[in-house]
Amino acid sequence: MILPNMKEAKIRTNKKVNISKYDVDSKYKNIGNNKKYFIKTYGCQMNVHDSENIKALLEEMKFQEVYNMEDADLILLNTCAIRENAHNKVFGFLGRVKHLKEIRPDIISGICGCMAQEESVVNEIKDKYKWVDIVFGTHNIHNLPSILNDSLMKRQQEIEVYSIEGEIVENIPVKRDSKYKAWVNIMYGCDKFCTYCIVPYTRGKQRSREPEYILEEVEKLVRDGYKEVTLLGQNVNAYGKDLDINYTMSDLLRDVAETKIERVRFVTSHPWDFNDEMIKVISEYDNIMPYIHLPLQSGSDRILKLMGRRYTKEDYINLFNKLKENIPNVSITTDIIVGFPGETEEDFKDTLDVVNTCKYDSAYTFIFSPRVGTPAEKMKDDVTIEEKNKRLHILNESVNKYANEANQRYLNKVVPVLIEGKSEKDNMLMGYTDTMKLVNVSGSDNYIGKIVNVKITDVKTWSLDGKIVK
Ligand code: 5AD
Ligand code: SF4
Repeated sequence: MILPNMKEAKIRTNKKVNISKYDVDSKYKNIGNNKKYFIKTYGCQMNVHDSENIKALLEEMKFQEVYNMEDADLILLNTCAIRENAHNKVFGFLGRVKHLKEIRPDIISGICGCMAQEESVVNEIKDKYKWVDIVFGTHNIHNLPSILNDSLMKRQQEIEVYSIEGEIVENIPVKRDSKYKAWVNIMYGCDKFCTYCIVPYTRGKQRSREPEYILEEVEKLVRDGYKEVTLLGQNVNAYGKDLDINYTMSDLLRDVAETKIERVRFVTSHPWDFNDEMIKVISEYDNIMPYIHLPLQSGSDRILKLMGRRYTKEDYINLFNKLKENIPNVSITTDIIVGFPGETEEDFKDTLDVVNTCKYDSAYTFIFSPRVGTPAEKMKDDVTIEEKNKRLHILNESVNKYANEANQRYLNKVVPVLIEGKSEKDNMLMGYTDTMKLVNVSGSDNYIGKIVNVKITDVKTWSLDGKIVK
């Protein structure tokens, strides 16, 4: 049993990151013969992509994927720890898994992802959820075959969660959800330690992948007919700063664009490391999409300082304006937290002020959620939950107004859309514009996987409708 340790997870030194290569151990190859697995994924794209790795590892062991939990022999929850409600959802879902296990005790159940990195969560599972068979952390994905094997052999709870400072495992197989767009990790972890955020503890030290591995992966995607890659990292602008070669995000963006993949995206950006060279590269290449997610978190200098964000309201707005001026047609979205400990009415007004200045294409808004072990958890918080809810509501009204206005500008325009598949609306297709607007499109299935020109015929706050034009 290897339990998580938040103190260890916090350590950062200059020790060189070890790169190893995953290789299947043939003795695990038939563990999943005639067995089915179901995986439920919570949280961000990073987790979605981890699940794509987990699926491939399981399929190497001959497990088959099912989409109905009731049909599965192995049930895995890939969890998120970013806010309390993500937690609660997982514990709620565990109730359903327990119920199934009472009927079919041979089911193997497991928890992985960011919650598995939390000491408090794993202690609870160890003490009160003894029926959960396996727990493995974000640094242990490549060991899944051996963890599963041990659990099956010993029939006891297996917990393997490293809190290591950093390692990269290349070559982990992947079963991608889409044939047209792909997630590509460019870095793991985060060293920013924003005071509210648990990511630096659950994902560890910032480790950039070597450019050769990233470019090899993208080149293969191009050969396999992929149209779009999204470069993933908690803080992609800091890419390369931990490598001992002189190579940063702007170099990587340029090299990825040069592979001639039709669309390049990247998330998430931190305003701190967004330099002029990056802006130049984005504006130079037509295949780097004019879409930037630029978390604001708060518009108040006082709160930004308490959050450890390293920029002021003015810095942020200057960067925002520079992006708008230099990248034609760019769409910019953001993340905002209301009710950070001690946030006053005045602080909140500063946030609204930035929203009114930037008029975002869209924003994800959250009420501050204290995370165990982070500095903000211990900060004095005298703002009532009623007040926080009220602020969130006011903020959302403003955000929605600008989202709608941004979409209105698309009416009757012709825009490029990568058609990804069937829409939830009957008989429609769906896809995203270069600027990341969701579009429902009428047209035949032959268009799936293609980038087509779409004329926008109707506009809503969160989506557009359109028809294909030749
Ligand atoms: N409480 C509320 N929101 C948070 N986020 C991160 N940590 C917290 C927290 N403790 C939000 C930030 C981040 C997004 C992914 O989640 O806005 O950008
Ligand atoms: Fe969390 Fe800040 Fe790192 Fe983003 S940059 S993952 S908010 S610590």
